[in-house]
Amino acid sequence: MKRVLLTTALLLASFAAVQAKDYQISTPNTTVILTADQNKPLYFRYYGAKAEIADVRAAGRMVKYDAYPAFGTLCDAPFAALVKQSNGDNSSKLVVDKVEQNTNGHLTTLSVWLRDVAHPELVIKANYSAYDDCDIVKMNTEYFNNGKKSIVLQKYMSAVVPIQSDNCVLMQLEGNTKNECNEVVMPLPVGQYNISTTTASRVAQYFNASFMLGLDGRLEEQNCPVIAGTMAWMGNTQFEFYNTNVARIPTLFMGGINPTASDYTLAGKSSLVTPEMILTYATNGKGEATRSFHRWARHHQLLHGTKEREVLLNSWEGVHFDISETSMVDMTRDFAALGGEMFVVDDGWFGDKYPRNDGTTSLGDWMIAPKKLPNGIRPLIDLAHNNGMKFGIWIEPEMVNTTSELYEKHPDWVLRHPDFEPTYGRGKTQLLLDLTNPKVQDHIFKVVDDLLTQYPDIYYIKWDNNMSMHNAHSQYLPKELQSNLYVDFTLALEKVLKRIRAKYPEVVIQLCASGGGRLNYGYMPYFQEMWTSDQTDAYHRILIQWGAMNFFPSNMLAAHVGSAYSKYTQRLIPIKFRFDVASMCRLGMEMVPAKLNDAEREYAKRAIAEYKTIRPVVQQGDLYRLVSPYEGNKDFSSLMYVTENKDRAVLFAYRHWFKHYMSNIIIRLQGLNPDAKYRIREVAPEFEGKPAKINGKVISGRMLMQEGIVLPELVKGFTKNAPLGEVRAGNDFRSIILELTEVK
Ligand code: DGJ
Repeated sequence: MKRVLLTTALLLASFAAVQAKDYQISTPNTTVILTADQNKPLYFRYYGAKAEIADVRAAGRMVKYDAYPAFGTLCDAPFAALVKQSNGDNSSKLVVDKVEQNTNGHLTTLSVWLRDVAHPELVIKANYSAYDDCDIVKMNTEYFNNGKKSIVLQKYMSAVVPIQSDNCVLMQLEGNTKNECNEVVMPLPVGQYNISTTTASRVAQYFNASFMLGLDGRLEEQNCPVIAGTMAWMGNTQFEFYNTNVARIPTLFMGGINPTASDYTLAGKSSLVTPEMILTYATNGKGEATRSFHRWARHHQLLHGTKEREVLLNSWEGVHFDISETSMVDMTRDFAALGGEMFVVDDGWFGDKYPRNDGTTSLGDWMIAPKKLPNGIRPLIDLAHNNGMKFGIWIEPEMVNTTSELYEKHPDWVLRHPDFEPTYGRGKTQLLLDLTNPKVQDHIFKVVDDLLTQYPDIYYIKWDNNMSMHNAHSQYLPKELQSNLYVDFTLALEKVLKRIRAKYPEVVIQLCASGGGRLNYGYMPYFQEMWTSDQTDAYHRILIQWGAMNFFPSNMLAAHVGSAYSKYTQRLIPIKFRFDVASMCRLGMEMVPAKLNDAEREYAKRAIAEYKTIRPVVQQGDLYRLVSPYEGNKDFSSLMYVTENKDRAVLFAYRHWFKHYMSNIIIRLQGLNPDAKYRIREVAPEFEGKPAKINGKVISGRMLMQEGIVLPELVKGFTKNAPLGEVRAGNDFRSIILELTEVK
């Protein structure tokens, strides 16, 4: 999204008359239809399975609702635009002025120019785009203020989609740090229901800007119609759902920037582009919706989305702030011996006058702490390289602690109201820098630039953010523009990220926000991966990863094996289960490897080597969810990945809880070629256990999908010698990974 000055050409553009017409854009399996007629409202008619206009009409499946309703006509019905003109008038009537259709690579865009009958200086361009290689459509708007005086955008949503169903089931993700992305499913309530994000800098801290909507009273993995949506925006968003009995108001949803406290003053002769609402329509359930999102993310949105990601060890859970040369050297060597591919130094390496020993100091002072690392990080980088590994480092560049050299020099660089004490974040001293200030933008760029100039062989950066925007007041913006902050802050962040990416297109940057607090499609063009959660309990992680993967692909979700004992849940979980859970995404470790016993070390080595063999399927395959940890008796869960040409697949099956005489569960596979035969191999079996009975068997895709498989090992207790972790973990937490290879 960007704000640009209008060109003279644009201002003078004159538009040819539009004839009443239905316009259609299509993906391989879906269609959007709009009706445009000169000087009439633009109507949204259909979003569903791919269809001919005549068929949709004959079947009675056309809806009719203003595609971009503005406050001013039908003020009792949902509206997407509310604009206060320079004279205070806030009513608008938007009508069609011009229609354009363009194709650019895989993308066809229908743009409809809407003019405000009462205020000619306001023009809104509504864009509807469809991909020809995946079932994704994008919608957004561009606001043009062609007048000389400022206007105030009070509501400026990206798009509105009416649907015919009045029996919808809604799924959204909610949570918090160490408990992210819980699936919540409910019938779409009557009236208005919003999914709003308000945390600004940690946009996904409590709610994710994503939803799935089952359209015929069900929301299932297969065989039901689903619309799923997400907002690509690094700031506050809102999805609004309306479900009324009023005949002229169909069930509908709209998405966009959250209008709360976001009245946006748009100067004369300038424009604002609203964020993209990204949608998929699936006839075959939420599984298909997920796969469409993943495919699109990897190929069109996520930076380097089709590249395989390395297995890394991150120092955080192992030593927290206790960084020293010895601890880092030991971890690097020990991880290399396990077959690791990268070592990442997390928080605690920086601060000269104020060394970083806890969360209370040093953010902003990005110089190496001399007492902790007297020889700097050069020897650590070299050591990683000498051991065949890459090197990465942690920063939190948008932040400052009040106990820091940066804050001493620039107390005016933080977001806060000058007349009262701010709300502090972590360590009771953390504040968010004011990114609307160009000097702060330069500072953030310089943090990254200095590191990468001094150490060009840093391969990976973990970019953290541990504070929501508690103090939404800019010391840089004038008083009358304070309500531009939420949007201008987001635009400023985007500007900095673009600047960093222009100079450093290749460096891998992981986005983190107290765990998975920034899971949003808006960041994807700048970050290759995101930290999913600080939750180290592997059972809890299944729920989090499962929830996140509804929308976000496995290769961008970092999942690390922690120690057997999770300090957050106080559960003990054996090493195989921990590896098997982390291996469903981008595998890493987060512990002191020296604390593993010999058997565990041997197992970790084997699990990492095995992960490398299944990595292409896990990181790039199509995801099929088989047994949900959120549904049924919750004792089991299972999912699988299948390559595009269906010649390889990897299945993950987990038993969470043990019960005496548990019944076997049947796992019906999906996504395979029914006519192919698959050889089954157990991946990284327990180190003292026997391989699963199914190991080595050849079974047809048809059998695997129609009748499914039974894994008797999943309902058994552990044998005496089974790997129990450092401390006995009981009989819970047993898991199996199977690789399926087509026998040709
Ligand atoms: C929060 C992150 O989620 C953790 O993984 C870790 O990087 C800490 N911050 C460091 O302070």
